[in-house]
Amino acid sequence: PSSAEVDAAGVLHLGGVGADRLVAEHGSPLYVLDEGDFRARARRFVQAFTDAFAAVGTEVDVYYAGKALLTVAVARWAHEEGLRIDTATGGELAVALRAGIPGPHIGLHGNNKSDDELTAALAAGVGRVVLDSADEVPRVAAAAAATGSRAPVMVRVTTGVHAGGHEYISTAHEDQKFGLSVAGGQAMEVLEAVAAHPDLDLVGIHSHIGSQILDPSGFEVAADKILRLRAELAGRTGDLVPEVDLGGGYGIAYLPGERPVDPAEIAGRVAEVVGRTCADLGTPLPRISIEPGRAVVGPAGVTLYTVGTVKQVRTGDAAVPERTYVSVDGGMSDNLRPALYGARYHAQVVSRRTGTEAVPARVVGKHCESGDVVVRDVQLPGEVRRGDVLAVPATGAYGRSMASNYNMVPRPPVVAVRAGTSRVLVRRETVEDLLGLDQG
Ligand code: LLP
Repeated sequence: PSSAEVDAAGVLHLGGVGADRLVAEHGSPLYVLDEGDFRARARRFVQAFTDAFAAVGTEVDVYYAGKALLTVAVARWAHEEGLRIDTATGGELAVALRAGIPGPHIGLHGNNKSDDELTAALAAGVGRVVLDSADEVPRVAAAAAATGSRAPVMVRVTTGVHAGGHEYISTAHEDQKFGLSVAGGQAMEVLEAVAAHPDLDLVGIHSHIGSQILDPSGFEVAADKILRLRAELAGRTGDLVPEVDLGGGYGIAYLPGERPVDPAEIAGRVAEVVGRTCADLGTPLPRISIEPGRAVVGPAGVTLYTVGTVKQVRTGDAAVPERTYVSVDGGMSDNLRPALYGARYHAQVVSRRTGTEAVPARVVGKHCESGDVVVRDVQLPGEVRRGDVLAVPATGAYGRSMASNYNMVPRPPVVAVRAGTSRVLVRRETVEDLLGLDQG
């Protein structure tokens, strides 16, 4: 339910506020977040997974993955909609705590947590710390002792299912830094060590298989493997781990015409596998948790840019002999994803009505390298000109959160729109802010 619509003058309205007005008020580039859309997507995850798993007989906690975008207001919206908050660093944890999220509703991840991060998390009484390596077992236990608490611990395991961006592939081993291998036996070793430790509570097994996943079958395979691991662990320790977290990774539409997977469809399919596998194994169902980030906040965000230089470039390519290069006032510093992953986006002129003649265009940033592309291939109106406002949709996730100050460019603000009004959630950085860090 996006509240984005174009009026008779050709102006895009976001949450009831015109794009021209947003830029006039808050400057550009600008991250605009539609609060109603964010909340609706958050609710839809809770509803879809709660319903699907209730049908097979268990309950679900949805954690919003803060790495996609975390501000104090965003954490509050998610929590008000019934989500908990997944953090990956002490910094994200600090935002969640500043937002007033109760400790038990916060999780902490990370493949290289510092002792300070572990201590801060336990002191806050987080609901779970997700362990990612064997050396964390004594370290989290020491942090628990220091804070006078028992540590609720999950263990992140790798099932060999890797998904996202392209079809999932099943391999025996994954040559990457996250988690502990099920096939290689390290997962079982660490699970047993945690289960046996007097200062640790083994609260669950965690699996995250990838990101921007459009094919639900990877989730099904991973869920089945985790449940078998859980049963095998119970055979050794005598205790069934109460919870299984299936991670995040739900894909979204970036381009017009792309169809994201419906949360209800994934939830239904995964719940069925969970029900069936537990029946097979003769084990009671675990409580389930998931950690969507992108699918909650991605589509709720739009970046607005102002067009500067427009240049006709002869490409030397017979297929597209001439391309219009449209330079905007941001670029890879506010959206690294095209440069880093070759990610595709769409752009449109949203500040006036334009003619119907469209030309092959490329939207580029203001940074000093040719890979600084915002939208690689897009048809834009032939008369696109300096001062036009361009909107790039679906930039709510991993835009602001991965932004940099490359070329000493201050990062844009995050502005929330709702019911015809806008509110600054994170203010625009200034060059003075950046100079303030420089000690001369
Ligand atoms: N849980 C864990 C343990 C994760 O590692 C991640 C993402 C998530 C949840 C949330 O995944 P999501 O639902 O947002 O796909 N910067 C990349 C994405 C990196 C995702 C890393 N982990 C991008 O811009 O595409």
